[in-house]
This record gives sequence, structure tokens and C-alpha cells, in this order.
Amino acid sequence: MHNGIRKQEEVHGSRKVEQLVTGQVTSDGAGVTLTRVLGQALQRRLDPFLMLDAFGSDNPGDYIAGFPDHPHRGFETVTYMIAGRMRHRDNAGHEGLLESGGVQWMTAGRGVIHSEIPEQAEGRMEGFQLWLNLPRTEKMAAPWYQDFPKAELPRFETEAGATVTVIAGESHGVRGAIRRDTTAPLYLDVHLSAGAQFAQTLPAGHNAFLYVYRGGVHVGGHAVPAPRMAILTNDPQAQGVVITADDDARILLMAGRPLHEPIVQHGPFVMNTEQEIRQAMEDFRAGSFA
Ligand code: FE2
Repeated sequence: MHNGIRKQEEVHGSRKVEQLVTGQVTSDGAGVTLTRVLGQALQRRLDPFLMLDAFGSDNPGDYIAGFPDHPHRGFETVTYMIAGRMRHRDNAGHEGLLESGGVQWMTAGRGVIHSEIPEQAEGRMEGFQLWLNLPRTEKMAAPWYQDFPKAELPRFETEAGATVTVIAGESHGVRGAIRRDTTAPLYLDVHLSAGAQFAQTLPAGHNAFLYVYRGGVHVGGHAVPAPRMAILTNDPQAQGVVITADDDARILLMAGRPLHEPIVQHGPFVMNTEQEIRQAMEDFRAGSFA
């Protein structure tokens, strides 16, 4: 869904880089190699974001096992495929195929059990899975999901040389595929040619970060090379962020309104109290997710 060429937003005062983060290589699911960019240690700082995993490999041994049946409760998962094909199925009988450039947005709410399995035996598999928290009042909401093929994701270009896909939130007057009132997530995939610039207004108080997955950029005089996450300062004087590409670069830019609620995570359950976690495990064992 192309929305034309937009004049670059004027942003007076850019947030700066507070911290550069190198992801941790780990294994999850039935043996999928991935890089955990945002892990539990950053959940408070980057509230309402709980996790960001990056996966990318040409070796089927790194991804072929996939993620067989597993539960989630209390948050949303956003899977963005850069390359490859992944089939998901859940206990409510929903099924979908996520292909290159597509997004699956799933609200686990009170509980889903699903599988996420590569639908390819060779070739490149690359993408991201983000976990976005739900407010206390919505953690037990009915599960929901939607698949957005690449062609349905809002996209625009700027005169300053950026090509932007708006997965969530709003940028340069273009509304994203998804909006959420409480956490107000902004999720952009920004492609920049060498020397190009991208500016984005960000509400004061929203936590924000970017993840560079190709090339390298500068933010406020600070270099951010791939593959690194940069946590952005919450500078009340800054209207947003200005990003300049050193070479051809691709980045994810995310921001959201913090919930300021207790976060208790046990694996795929993220609730507000230990008691709610025990309840989630009991409900799962008792089969009441199904
Ligand atoms: Fe999952």
C-alpha cells in the first residue's frame, strides 16, 4: 500500500543514544538459533516492550525445527518476516502463512497455544519477533490475530531518501497497519540510502529504541552499526529522533507509552503478579487455553 512521497518531518532536537546493546545468541523453540536483542534485563527500561528476537540464517539447521506448540498469555507478539516462509497454527483452528515482508500481529490475551514452523527446507530465513506488553486490564482479553502480507502494509518515501513501512503507529501522516490506544506502539522499518536522513517525532515520555540490521547510521553524533540496538534517551527537550545513514542502512524504529505496571514473566506468560503466573500455569495444565 504505497502512500507516495512525503516531505520529511521537522524535528527540533534529536534524542541521543543512551546505550548500545549487542544481542545475545541463544536457542529457542525446538532448536532455532536466534539473537535476543531485547531481553528481560531491559524490560523496565523499554516498557512496554518485553522482548525482541532477531533471526537470520541461510543454514536450515538454524531454523528448520521451528517453534512447535507452545502457549502465550498476557501480551502481544509481532512477527515480521524479512525473508522466508513460516506457517502458524493455533488451538482455535486459525492458520496462516507468513511470507517475506509480511507481519503477523497476535494478541495472546488470556491464552493461545500455537506453532510457528518454517515452510521451507532451504534458503534464507530472516525476521524479527517483538513482544509488546498488554495493560493489566487487557491481559485476559480474548485472543486475536491478523496477518498483513507485504502489499497491505502502509509504505511511503520521503524527499530525504527514506523508504518507510509503517507496521504500527503513525509516521509522516501515514497510519500504520495496527494502532493500540494504551501502549501506542510505533513500529517502523526504515530503509535509507547512503547519506540519507530520517526524522521522526516521538512523544515525550515514550520509550524508544532502534535496531540497525543492515549498514550503519548516526544518531546525534553517535555511530550505531549493524547489528546493534540503540536505546534512545528520554530527553524532554527533544521532539523526536534524527537518523543519518553512513551507508545503505535498514533499521527498525520502535517507541511506545510505558505501562508502569509490575512485570512478572515466566517463559511465555507475562502477568503483573506471581499469583497470576501460577494461575496461567494451572490453566495451561488444565487445558483451559484450548
Ligand atoms: Fe509463539
